[in-house]
Amino acid sequence: MFTAATYTGRRNALKSKGLKGIAIFLGNNESAMNYPDNTYHFRQDSNYLYFFGLDFPGLAAVVDFDSGEDFIFGDDATLADVIWMGPQIPLKEKAAKVGVTKTAPYADFAKVVDNAKKQGRTIHFLPPYRGDNKILIHELLGIPVSQVQENASLPLIKAVVSLRSVKDAGEIAEIEKACAVGYQMHVTAMKMALPGEWEQRIAGTIEGIAMSGGGMTAFPIILSQNGETLHNHNHSQLLEKGRLLITDAGAESALHYASDFTRTTPVGGKFTTKQREIYDIVLAANNTATSLIKPGVTYLSVHLEVAKVIASGLKSLGLMKGDVDEAVKNGAHALFFPHGLGHMMGLDVHDMEDLGQIHVGFDEEIQPVNQFGTGYLRLGRRLQPGFVITNEPGIYFIPALIDKWQAEKINAGFINFDKVDEYRGFGGIRIEDDILVTETGGRILGERVPVTAEEIERLVIG
Ligand code: GLY
Ligand code: MN
Ligand code: MN
Repeated sequence: MFTAATYTGRRNALKSKGLKGIAIFLGNNESAMNYPDNTYHFRQDSNYLYFFGLDFPGLAAVVDFDSGEDFIFGDDATLADVIWMGPQIPLKEKAAKVGVTKTAPYADFAKVVDNAKKQGRTIHFLPPYRGDNKILIHELLGIPVSQVQENASLPLIKAVVSLRSVKDAGEIAEIEKACAVGYQMHVTAMKMALPGEWEQRIAGTIEGIAMSGGGMTAFPIILSQNGETLHNHNHSQLLEKGRLLITDAGAESALHYASDFTRTTPVGGKFTTKQREIYDIVLAANNTATSLIKPGVTYLSVHLEVAKVIASGLKSLGLMKGDVDEAVKNGAHALFFPHGLGHMMGLDVHDMEDLGQIHVGFDEEIQPVNQFGTGYLRLGRRLQPGFVITNEPGIYFIPALIDKWQAEKINAGFINFDKVDEYRGFGGIRIEDDILVTETGGRILGERVPVTAEEIERLVIG
């Protein structure tokens, strides 16, 4: 946990944003897997963690913008709780650790909200993403469950995004801890990438590394020889020599800050010429992004430059044709690179995605692009020092997408479909690093996971 002054400072910064009325913050609750007492691993809400730091279920909080007071609501453990879960710290003591002196039983939360409602005060809330918290907002404020999301407070969302987007030194240190665990996860996966090994055994081993690092994974592990499926959570295959294994995985630090790396490893440790040619284009794209990242540039422009590196590399291999700038303008690269270059990362791996991507990644100046591929970009706006972002270009050969574009002659002026046919069954390659935007450029966070083809080959072969 950070110091009480850190949490008080964050709440004071929120109070300086000019909002009136109160803001309510809902912590997460235990969530049942298959019966009420068999719960998923508890994960506190990231906004609650950011402002109130307490990593326990059954909590809520209020920030009163008019009086400047903060309140935490929750119940102290009963004897039954202590019997099953051991001694628990009283709420007052927990709250003191985050600089809050005013605490009350959970039942008082509804009374405080009801009072504010009766007085006609504005009640700000963030968009809840869990069913129980949507129902709770409905019960507190009378908003139909189906309309809770759209009634969330835009001023509060914008205030929170402006604060959480810029990471301080303590947060960066946490992310670096998550990166150190992520490094071990990836190096281990590379060393295990041998014919006859099971994908599941690698996924399980590296998930264990995340847990033994003191946190858990930052998101369900993506690990597959069918890397052309962007978020492939199926790990049921036996590793075969000559195939490519994509591993997209990261850890959470004990304070829940994320890392998110992707590496692509040739099973058995040797890239074929065809694989190596594509690999080096993706690596050039990744390195280009790192070199372009600096304050003031838009991430949309970095994404589009990276798309040009990919299109130009694919043109040199005969997979694309025509003018590279025109190809990218028309979105032709998206047959191979159908996703965005990256996203913000922090307390969430896709940081603040619960608050709405439009508010996190875009602004009045930079709006989302309505085009296949670039339309999936989660971050387009100008970069600022303290932003932590991912850099994750890829090239994939997705049969269903190739079939559609071929049949409908989509971007046929820029694609050599006959050549593309030779790459069916290739899979995909993605390379992902985490980058801190500094005052002058971008710094790769953590020790960079081995990334050149030679480094990876050496690791696998041992
Ligand atoms: N871990 C999913 C992603 O890279 O966005
Ligand atoms: Mn990833
Ligand atoms: Mn990512």
